[in-house]
Order: sequence, then C-alpha cells, then structure tokens
Amino acid sequence: GVVPELASREHLRALPMMVDRALDEARGPVELVAVTAGPGLIGALLVGVRFAAAFAWARRLPLVAVDHLEGHLVSPLLSLDGEAARPEPEPMLALVASGGHSSWYLMESDSRRRLGQTRDDAAGESFDKVAQVLGLGYPGGPAMDKLAREGDSQAVALPRPQLPDAPLDFSFSGLKSAAIRWVRTRGADELSTDGTVLRDFAASFEAAVVDQLLQPLPELARRHRPVALAASGGVAANTLLRRRLSDWGREHDLEVLLPAPALTTDNAVMIAAAGQAAHALGREDDPRRLDARAREAWQPPGMRRCESAASESR
Ligand code: KG4
Ligand code: ZN
Repeated sequence: GVVPELASREHLRALPMMVDRALDEARGPVELVAVTAGPGLIGALLVGVRFAAAFAWARRLPLVAVDHLEGHLVSPLLSLDGEAARPEPEPMLALVASGGHSSWYLMESDSRRRLGQTRDDAAGESFDKVAQVLGLGYPGGPAMDKLAREGDSQAVALPRPQLPDAPLDFSFSGLKSAAIRWVRTRGADELSTDGTVLRDFAASFEAAVVDQLLQPLPELARRHRPVALAASGGVAANTLLRRRLSDWGREHDLEVLLPAPALTTDNAVMIAAAGQAAHALGREDDPRRLDARAREAWQPPGMRRCESAASESR
C-alpha cells in the first residue's frame, strides 16, 4: 500500500519538477489554478494545496479547490487531445470505482447525488489485496485484468453477497475473504503465473467484483431513467467492467461514456477540467485560507450534493 509520510515527501519532491515540465509544454499562459483539496491522505493533499495556493498567489491567478471525486465524475467527458469537455448528458448514472471509493452517483447539471456505495472495501482495494496475497505486486488491478483475459470466469465459485436492507449498496469484504481463503489453500506451484489455475481464478474474481459493482444498476436505472451511463476511477480501466457497461447500455438504449484508460486513474486533467467548470460558475477560493480536507466535503457551486437516505443513516 501507500505509506502516508513517504507519499507526502514524494509529492514535495515531484511537484516542482512536474509543474516546470507542464509549464514548458503548455500551449498558452496559465489562467487558472485548480487543486485537489480532498478527500484523500491529508499530508499529500496539504503539499498540493499549499503549493497551488503559493503558485496562484505569486502569479495573481484565480485559485479553485476541487473535490477529487468531482474530478473522476467529469473524466468521462474529457478527451486527451486538449478539446473542451463535452456537455454532460443528463440525467446520467455514474460509477466511481477506485482504490478508495466505489459509489454510484446521479449526475444532473445542477447536482450530484450519491445513490449507493460500498459498505466496506473499495473495488480497487479488493483487487489490490487479493493480488498482494498472490504476490502480484501493487497496485494489483492491472495484473489481475491481464491474467483474467486468458481465464475461465466460471472456474472458481466465489460469493456475491447481497445487502437485503440496502439494495443500492454493495459489499466486497465477503468476496475478498473467500478469495483469500481460496488462495491460501493452494500451493505456490499450483498458482504459478504460467499455469491456467491462476488465470481462471483471476477471471472468476474479476467477474465477481464486476457483478458486485453492477448489482444496483437495474434498480437505479428503473428509479432514475438515465439517458447515459458513465464509469470512472482506476477500476474503470478494467476490461470486463468496460465491456459489461457497454453491453448494458446497448441493451437498454443508453449512451455509455468511458474515459480513455489514461484518464481513469488519478490525473491532473480531470482536476483542471472540474476546476474550470467550477470557475465558470463563479467559484474562487482564497489562497490564504484554502485548506485540505481528508473527507468528502466540497460543495460544487450552484450544485446540490445530496446523499441518499441509506448513506445518511450510516
Ligand atoms: O483512481 P485510482 O488511480 O486511485 C484512487 O483514487 O484510488 O485507482 C487505483 C485503483 C487501484 O486499486 C488499482 O488496482 C485499480 O484502480 N485498477 C484496476 C485496473 N487498473 C487500475 N482494477 C482492475 N482492473 C484494472 N485494469
Ligand atoms: Zn482517484
């Protein structure tokens, strides 16, 4: 995993170099500074926020704080060629699945509403933990995806627990524990990376994770009648998840928006785009007062961020 103290120091070391390089490559003058203010590791966030605030203050540029999740939510609207973000189809059902979050949102032009979420681990976290037990390195999602492409997803029976009291929420801990138990009962030779057992297991685990993520989708679509579906976050790079969402969209006549793989994982393009949209709506933050927040708290300007009743009662 990530060691918080080391992550902060690496941010401090890498940021000035990265910003210099970005300024060298930029096609025009900088007009706005957007910075992730949360949620996340507080030390790493503080390094970014103080750096951005000083940069904006010294250059007399407007500064906008961006919620990391809002960045993911707008990422399916972006392209890598520098074009402006495409307009948001609305209403749109959007899945954010990363190493820290797994939630479904309803996106409308004036609001973001979280409709359902994981009750325990995030999807990426469960890929990472199972991959770690298999000795596949960190993060484990990409390695599992690669192995799964040549495996049989029916080969290993894994549980897909449901939450009867919260049909829009889902859970990964039971699946993760069952998967880790399965690995521990196998010998290292049986699980070698050139054998079929590991590939079949990876495919079976991936299918179960994707089933869990998509479990609330039919009910969400019935309730909210979206015109489009979107997915973002590191796990939105997953081959099976992308295929299942595209198939579901085709079958139900919904447009499906998936970010380019390079924009699924954490990136600055999505933060810049979210900051630009917020600034266009009148948002500006004071560089002397802006602070980082470890938890989800940002209120996009002119937007309501309502939590579902189920989430509120947790
Ligand atoms: O959004 P992200 O870059 O960082 C967070 O905000 O957490 O997501 C990283 C997560 C990791 O858990 C990683 O294993 C997972 O995304 N991931 C994948 C794939 N690529 C990255 N999981 C499954 N399949 C992939 N192809
Ligand atoms: Zn992220």
